[in-house]
Amino acid sequence: MLTSKSENLFNEAKNYIPGGVNSPVRAFKSVGGNPIFIQRGEGSKLIDVDGNKFIDYIGSWGPHLFGHNPSFIKEALLKAIENGTSFGTPSEPEVSIAKLITEIVPSVEMVRMVNSGTEATMSAVRAARGFTKKEKIIKFEGCYHGHADFFLIKAGSGALTLGIPTSPGVTKGNAADTLIADYNDIESVKKLISANKNQIAAIIIEPVAGNMGVVKANKEFLNELRNICSEEKIVLIFDEVMSGFRVAKGGAQELFDIKPDLSTFGKIIGGGLPVGAFGGKKEIMEIIAPNGPVYQAGTLSGNPLAMAAGYAALSYIKNNPEIYNTLEDKSSYLEKGIKDNLKSSGKNFTINRVGSMLTLFFNEEEVNDFKTAVKSDTDLFGKYFNEMLTRGVYLPPSQFEALFVSTAHLKEDLDKTIEVNLESLKSVLK
Ligand SMILES: Cc1ncc(COP(=O)(O)O)c(C=O)c1O
Repeated sequence: MLTSKSENLFNEAKNYIPGGVNSPVRAFKSVGGNPIFIQRGEGSKLIDVDGNKFIDYIGSWGPHLFGHNPSFIKEALLKAIENGTSFGTPSEPEVSIAKLITEIVPSVEMVRMVNSGTEATMSAVRAARGFTKKEKIIKFEGCYHGHADFFLIKAGSGALTLGIPTSPGVTKGNAADTLIADYNDIESVKKLISANKNQIAAIIIEPVAGNMGVVKANKEFLNELRNICSEEKIVLIFDEVMSGFRVAKGGAQELFDIKPDLSTFGKIIGGGLPVGAFGGKKEIMEIIAPNGPVYQAGTLSGNPLAMAAGYAALSYIKNNPEIYNTLEDKSSYLEKGIKDNLKSSGKNFTINRVGSMLTLFFNEEEVNDFKTAVKSDTDLFGKYFNEMLTRGVYLPPSQFEALFVSTAHLKEDLDKTIEVNLESLKSVLK
């Protein structure tokens, strides 16, 4: 595979951009090698600056439910740009998308648009704190909610000890307000609540986690979480930045039939443009400025280009709900193919899949939380990733990410992926 243009660009990029990338996981640090610079996306394919073509399973980390550059989103953008790029005033497309979101996700009675998933989760927590007049939050080990300071916290040495910042620059004060529970373990939540009585403003969770690899929450666990939050007057936040409009039309909350108090969205909601949103119960959302005292704002929030792309994506979903059956068929076909390959390779590695999100863990144990996920053999995954890449399949460059299948993946793409998966497994396991 010729990569000289990518290599040159990467060397140049490193002079001007930290690590040569604008988001760390793109740098291939955990899999080895240099990042590939992409020039164009088309359906299920990425084409790089050296002319290599890849079957893409990153999907821009989730937004591309319909593959790259679908004509209906492109047309909506071209039409919108005729009127300008941003007004900084209210505009009709903001009303249209807000209405559509409340139709597709019934727990969302009111919604505020922002520009990223990070902004959405950060603002939802602020709303919850303002609403409950309490300060602490509970998050789960292995869940990612963007890079706001108070999310970059991991568990201390004991279940009830203070959390520790996972990044320099995050203060001990932030760590003191974020408590860490174990995913799928309701007892760990109960212990934290009883040790911090009447101090917890919110519990935030990825109901289908995608940031420790794909891990699905147990329905019973989520039901208990819902009940505890109601009893303790804690705001339950489902972070559906990844799972929203992905695992089902109405997201994970539709799949589990559980209504959170607030939800956060990103990725698909912007149709490939930088968009996030948070919304939920009217009584909580009314606390946001200018109606209420909780400040939240954004120069480009709800800008007409982003709203046009997002509206096109969500309208397509609303009008074509059968795409979720198609995605399920394609994704289960891929899963079965990889399972058969594992069997013939003599390995019992775990595959977790929820709809069109899938992770192959290089780990023979069941993976249902962070502790089991990190038992995966990341060195072996790194080798496997590079074998797949040189054979034309672009996976997320980390063991702890989800592969995204899109409606644009053709049967021939899936067959080629399964074939390449077998060759790559054989190569790394020999
Ligand atoms: C579940 C979840 N929440 C929040 C975020 C942060 O979103 P963004 O990268 O748009 O800030 C992500 C990003 O991957 C995510 O997966």
